[in-house]
Amino acid sequence: MQHAEPDDFVERVSERSDIYSVVSRYVPLTQKSGRYWGRCPFHNEKTASFCVSPDKGFFYCFGCGAGGNVFKFLSLIENISYFEAVKLQAERLGIDLPTQRYSPEQDRQRREQKVLFQINETAQDFYHECLIKTARGEIGRKYFAGRGITAETIQTFKLGYAPDEWENLLPQLTRRDFTAQQIESVGLIAKRKNSSGYYDRFRARVIIPIADERGRVVGFGGRILGNADESTPKYLNTPETPIFNKRKILFGLDKSARAINSAGCAIVVEGYMDAISLFGAGVQNVVATLGTAFTPDHAKLLLRYARKIIFCYDSDEAGQRATIRALPIVQAAGAEVFIVQVPDGKDPDDFIRKHGKDAFDALIRNASTLIDYRMKYVLARAELATPVGKVQALREILPVVVKIADTAARNEYTKKIAAALYMDETLVKAEWRKLLRQMQRDSTGNAENSPVKRTRLAVAEDPAIREASEIILRMLWHESDMISYVRDTVPREIFSPVNREIFDWLEDCAQHGKSVNELNAASDLSEAADAQLSRIILGGDGEPRATEIAMFDDSVKVLRRVNLKKRYNELLLQAEKYISSDDDAYQRTVRASLKIKHQMDTLKGD
Ligand code: UTP
Ligand code: MN
Repeated sequence: MQHAEPDDFVERVSERSDIYSVVSRYVPLTQKSGRYWGRCPFHNEKTASFCVSPDKGFFYCFGCGAGGNVFKFLSLIENISYFEAVKLQAERLGIDLPTQRYSPEQDRQRREQKVLFQINETAQDFYHECLIKTARGEIGRKYFAGRGITAETIQTFKLGYAPDEWENLLPQLTRRDFTAQQIESVGLIAKRKNSSGYYDRFRARVIIPIADERGRVVGFGGRILGNADESTPKYLNTPETPIFNKRKILFGLDKSARAINSAGCAIVVEGYMDAISLFGAGVQNVVATLGTAFTPDHAKLLLRYARKIIFCYDSDEAGQRATIRALPIVQAAGAEVFIVQVPDGKDPDDFIRKHGKDAFDALIRNASTLIDYRMKYVLARAELATPVGKVQALREILPVVVKIADTAARNEYTKKIAAALYMDETLVKAEWRKLLRQMQRDSTGNAENSPVKRTRLAVAEDPAIREASEIILRMLWHESDMISYVRDTVPREIFSPVNREIFDWLEDCAQHGKSVNELNAASDLSEAADAQLSRIILGGDGEPRATEIAMFDDSVKVLRRVNLKKRYNELLLQAEKYISSDDDAYQRTVRASLKIKHQMDTLKGD
C-alpha cells in the first residue's frame, strides 16, 4: 500500500472532519443564526458564550478566549498534543495513519479487529433500539425507571435490552454479513452444546455497553431484571475476547475523561451501575472496574487524566477489602490516593439516590487520605485497652507510613499516631526507626522471592493437595494458634509455593505476635499469595463448626498421606538403584520404606 506524506495526511483528516459533530460529542449545542452555541467546556460559565462555526471550521469562546480548529479543540478537551488530536480524529474517521507501516499480517489483524468493533457497535444499536422503541423493551424501560435512570442517561450510555429469546441478535448480525464465527469471537453468541448452530449469550437482561477510553464498544454487561437468585448470575459480562480485557478497561472513561481532567480527580467505583447512577446525578468524573481487582493498567490509564484517584467502593467487608488491595497498586503508580467510605447504604448508587448529589459531593470533599484510611482501618480492629494491643496496632500502622520521606509530614504522622494510640511520641519514633532498619536489611539479598525462582517452582498441583491445603490455611486464618499443630504434623514442603508463602507468613505472625488480618497480609505477601489468600478465605461455605473441624482433620490426613506416599515412592526408586551395587544400602532403604508403609497403614486406620 502507498502511504501519503504527513502534511497531506493532516489535510485529508481535516477535510473529512466536521467540527460540529466533533464538538457536539462533548458539548450540547443549540443553533442560532448560522452558528452553534453552548456552554464553554474550558471555563465555568452559566450562559452560552462558546460558539462553533461549521462552515469556517472554527470554534471560539467569547468568555475565555479559547479558540481554534477541530484539532485544537480535541487537543484541549482530551488533553493531548495537536498531532495526537489529528491521529485521534483520523482513527474516529477510520483513516489509516501514514507513519505506521504494517506488515500484511498486521494489516489483516487490524482489519479483523475493526470488524469486531463494528459487530459490537451494531449489537449496541440493536439492544438500544430494542429498549427504547419496542414493546418487548417495556420491561427494561420499567427496570431503569425503577432505578431512577433517566431517558437522558439511557441515551448517554446507549443502554439497551436483550429480549428473552435464544436467537434474536444473531440473525440481525448475520444479515449484515458478519460471520457467526466473528460474532462468537466477541462473545455475543455461543455454540449450542447438543445441536448445531448458535444462541444469543445475553437474554432477558438490560444491557450495558462497555467502551474503551476512545469510545469503541469492546464488550457488554447484562443485568437480570429482578433480584439475584442461585440459578442465574446477577450480572453477565462479555468473556475475554481479542478486544475485551477487563483488567485494562475502566467503564465510563470515554465519557468521564473530560470531567476527570477538569476536576483533577477520578472517582473509582466497583460496579458500572454505580458509575451510571453517579454520572446521571451529575457526578461525571467517575469510572468503574468490571468486577475485577484494580490493576496497575487501570492506574496508568487514569493518571493520564488526573493525579488524584478517589476510591469509593461498597461499604461492606468485601468492598473494604478490595479497597485495601487497590491502594498499594495506585500508590505505586504515583497517584494521590483518597478513600471515601459510604456511610449509609450499600454502595454509591444507594447513597446518592437516598441523599442526593450535594451529600455525595460532601463525602468526596471529606475523603480520607491513604494513611488516615489505613489508620482508621487498623484502629477499628485494634485492641487499645492493653499495652500489648497498642504495640500491635502500632506495628500494623507503621508499615503504611514508614516510607514517608518528608520530615514535616513524618513528624505530623508521628503525632497523629501517638495521639490515636495514647502513646508517647518517642516510642513511636523508636519503632519507626527500627522498622526502617529492618526493611533495609530485608531488601538486600532476598533471592527466595525472585520472580525467576517463583516461576520455576510453579508446577501443576494435585487437586486433592490443593483442596486440603486450602481448608487448612482457612482454618489457620481463623484459629492461628493451631499453627504449631499443623507445623508438627504436615511438612511445609507439601504446600505449593504460593500456599507455602501463606503458611510461612501465618507462622511468622504467630511467632512475632503480629495479628493475622488483611492489612498485614496485603503488605507482607506477594500479590499472588495475597490474591490466593483472599480466594481461600472467601471460599469458606460457613459450614457448621463440627463439620469444619472434621474437614480440617481430614485435610491434615490427606496431606500427611500424600507426603508419606511420596517418600515411600522415592525410597523404592532409590532401593532399585542399590539392588545390584550395594546390598547394605539396599536393605537399609527397604527397611526405611517399610517403616513408612506402616505409618501409611496406621494413618488409614484412624
Ligand atoms: P454488586 O453486586 O455490588 O453490584 O457487584 P451492584 O453494582 O451493586 O449492582 P446492582 O446495584 O445490584 O445492580 C459489583 C460488580 O461486580 C460484578 C459487576 O461488574 C458488578 O458491577 N459482578 C457482580 C459480576 O460480574 N457478576 C455478578 O453476578 C455480580
Ligand atoms: Mn448497587
